[in-house]
Amino acid sequence: MVNIAVLGYGVVGSGVVEVIKKNRHSIGTRAGEEIKVKKVLDIRDFTDCPDAELMTKDAEEVFKDDSISILVETIGGTKFAYDFTRRALSSGKSVVTSNKELVATHGPELLKMARDNNVSYLFEASVGGGIPIVRPLNQCLAANEIIGIAGILNGTTNYILTSMRKEGKDFGEALKDAQEKGYAEADPSSDIDGVDACRKIAILSSISYNEFVDANRIYTEGIREITLEDMQYAKEMDSKIKLLAISRRYGENIFARVTPVIVNNSGQLANVEGVFNAIIVRGNAIGDAMFYGRGAGKLPTASAVVADVIDIVKHVESNSNNVWKIMNENNIVNIDETESEFFVRLKVKNHEGAEKLVKSLIGDVEKVVLQMDFAKDEYAFKTDVITEKSFKGFIKKLNQSDVIEKVANTIRFFEE
Ligand code: HSE
Repeated sequence: MVNIAVLGYGVVGSGVVEVIKKNRHSIGTRAGEEIKVKKVLDIRDFTDCPDAELMTKDAEEVFKDDSISILVETIGGTKFAYDFTRRALSSGKSVVTSNKELVATHGPELLKMARDNNVSYLFEASVGGGIPIVRPLNQCLAANEIIGIAGILNGTTNYILTSMRKEGKDFGEALKDAQEKGYAEADPSSDIDGVDACRKIAILSSISYNEFVDANRIYTEGIREITLEDMQYAKEMDSKIKLLAISRRYGENIFARVTPVIVNNSGQLANVEGVFNAIIVRGNAIGDAMFYGRGAGKLPTASAVVADVIDIVKHVESNSNNVWKIMNENNIVNIDETESEFFVRLKVKNHEGAEKLVKSLIGDVEKVVLQMDFAKDEYAFKTDVITEKSFKGFIKKLNQSDVIEKVANTIRFFEE
């Protein structure tokens, strides 16, 4: 029998206890030994808790219990989670987590600590909820050089964008609904501002390129500025708006960004709806492989955590061989040097003047016309491929012009 402890009895932590109880027999068969939750650490009081007999508020009861060999860290954040993880790894206990903030921030140190202590630090559930992606990258695709990753990595924002588009809900209503369903982070700004997706693409990139890609250096935008009007234009272009995390390897250089993008309906990612996540991995041997499934929620995420626990039970030796080198800062390409096609929506005072100005600044553009009331005083178009730096200069000039009232929005296009 293998005893484990769960640190943090929130959505995922309670899900882990539930999955282990529910699937006790099949889990035991697969692991080769029965897996038992011996303690659950949480400082909160829970009324009507089905796991009351396991609860403790005293961390020492977990750390000083030599019969507990694996800790599931589902506390989240970096404060207590970081100290507890270090303490566990350095005292010979393996750790499994769904905590992307901790992995994205302290991954190199914690992986090294696990290896040095011959224990494991596994985090399948930190990206893509229930979708297997960390292990496939580390193992099944290990023969490939990974050239790029593109994914919808945040269920909450995909749920919000889908509800806005399909049901005409406003942003606030759709967010509230996502929170009630348990998809959103405690602080929803990390979802809607793209921070959660940024941490996840940082983790996937670090695994793929075997070098630590620092989330703080990834250009990130969220979905707060996306409106129902933008969605109407996207529809007119036979496309949808998605929050996409992208990472590419160019020789020695790496580029990563998280932004809303316009995805053509013919692309696979355009059809990923609601809370679902999808990740396309491009390898130099396999070509494109797509991973799809529920990217958030109690039981899908818990299932990924428990799979890591099973993996550790089956492989007593450390399987944290993946140590991320801290890379040279210059290897991360600055967003200004990258190129995109952009959708631009202008509120104009003078249509003809605006068209002439745009043409004089960036040449011919592809006009997008909507027969809707709100679009009457707008000039919307798609640019050719342009560098971010030139685009910023272009927008600055538009903002200074007296034929334009304001730049209503700009959104990049995604090319698979
Ligand atoms: N808040 C996250 C999401 C949960 O919506 O994707 C899973 O990491």
